[in-house]
Amino acid sequence: MQHGSNRRHFLASSVSLAASLGVSRLFGQDVPKITPEGEKRFKPDSLFLTWQQDPTTTMTIQWIGQAKQVDEPTILYRDRGKGDGWIIGPSCKTTAFPVVESASVRPERGADAGEAATKPADPTAPKYTGPTDLTIFRAELTKLSPGTEYEFTIGLSAPTYRFRTMPTKATKAFHFVSGGDVGIGAHALANNKVAAGQDPMFALVAGDLGYDNGVNGATALKFIQNYAATMTDSQGRLIPLVTCLGNHEVRGSYGKTLKEATFFTPLFNGLYADTSYATLDFGDYLSLVLLDTGHCAKIAGEQTAWLEKTLKDRAGKAHLIAVDHVPCYPSYRVPEGKGDKFGTGEEQRKNWCPLFDKYGVDVVLEHHDHTFKRTRPLNDGKVDEATGITYLGDGSWGKLRIPKTPELRPYLEEVSSNYHITMHRLEDEQRFHLAFGETGKVLDVHRTGKKPRNRTPGVTTR
Ligand SMILES: [Fe+2]
Ligand SMILES: [Fe+2]
Repeated sequence: MQHGSNRRHFLASSVSLAASLGVSRLFGQDVPKITPEGEKRFKPDSLFLTWQQDPTTTMTIQWIGQAKQVDEPTILYRDRGKGDGWIIGPSCKTTAFPVVESASVRPERGADAGEAATKPADPTAPKYTGPTDLTIFRAELTKLSPGTEYEFTIGLSAPTYRFRTMPTKATKAFHFVSGGDVGIGAHALANNKVAAGQDPMFALVAGDLGYDNGVNGATALKFIQNYAATMTDSQGRLIPLVTCLGNHEVRGSYGKTLKEATFFTPLFNGLYADTSYATLDFGDYLSLVLLDTGHCAKIAGEQTAWLEKTLKDRAGKAHLIAVDHVPCYPSYRVPEGKGDKFGTGEEQRKNWCPLFDKYGVDVVLEHHDHTFKRTRPLNDGKVDEATGITYLGDGSWGKLRIPKTPELRPYLEEVSSNYHITMHRLEDEQRFHLAFGETGKVLDVHRTGKKPRNRTPGVTTR
């Protein structure tokens, strides 16, 4: 069925592709004349995969490059297991990679830097010298078969790449990696390798990707190039990237719009088309609820109303995971507000945590503080060993600080000053979370179990 419709697609598309590519004989052999591997001349250094819709049946292919580098930005793909001819997929949609004329924030202070605060432009600072002639290419493959390995190429002169669609069910092999606060330094690269070494189904980077601050195109590009260079699994398959927004994607950090997420928006608005928060549903077994902690959308109001509906609608999911950048329970910054200023995470604790409790979110992944952190299981802000929620992460993929201790912050269970990523293994209705340091050493192992989805916050249910 699938093959039949693809075959029709191939026949319908092949005439125009043949014309544009100069392929003279298509119908006789069902396979366009693709340049032999050794003669490939188009090798994008920023090719990566992501998703806009259900990862069990779709895949989005993207790269950033010069338009003149590629003869024909059309995707050809096929099921590796079937050995059929190539299917002519969609042509890429293109968007200009933004050009920002001059930096309006001070430069990053190095790999161990804390959050670089947004500052007015320094008139003596060098003018922006990033790329000015780049295009973002995007093509989405749809109606794919779940749990299947595909290969694809771009036009007729690019290498062949591989990926797998997500399975229909979360099997014992289903695991992904997550983290935040990456940057483009050596520690980020080391952790990319640790992350890829887990052979994850995908990688989730929850805010503060390259630290482009919405102004530095070279940094935004370098983050993607680093990802493309390192995030391939042991079988040679590209590892898809899922992101959410952090303050360092946005010119001005907080209280802005998607327009000020200068590079993030054109790169990831396949998923974040209308809002800076979104849900990615993997079949009927996993939902990632990806939130914006006040960068391009307010926490209270519309986003919170959306969150409630989103969680309510997903009560039947085996794995319901909330993802945000600024932590509800910080391991470094101060949680209490001063005067009319909210403390770190205070707005989320007021608006979102009661919903996480009510709808029984399985785990919250959050970052921004540049440490390794695992909270105690919390329900209504209090320790609840039976059904409380673990808040995990704190963002040290490539950035680092020294966390506060559990003695000072009793909601913390484990903290350390280590660069890290976490591997999440889904198994039936429980999850195992293994934190790895940048040398691959296991830093922490934690299990989260099944949560009752509808309950009264603050009331323990067994
Ligand atoms: Fe950060
Ligand atoms: Fe941050």
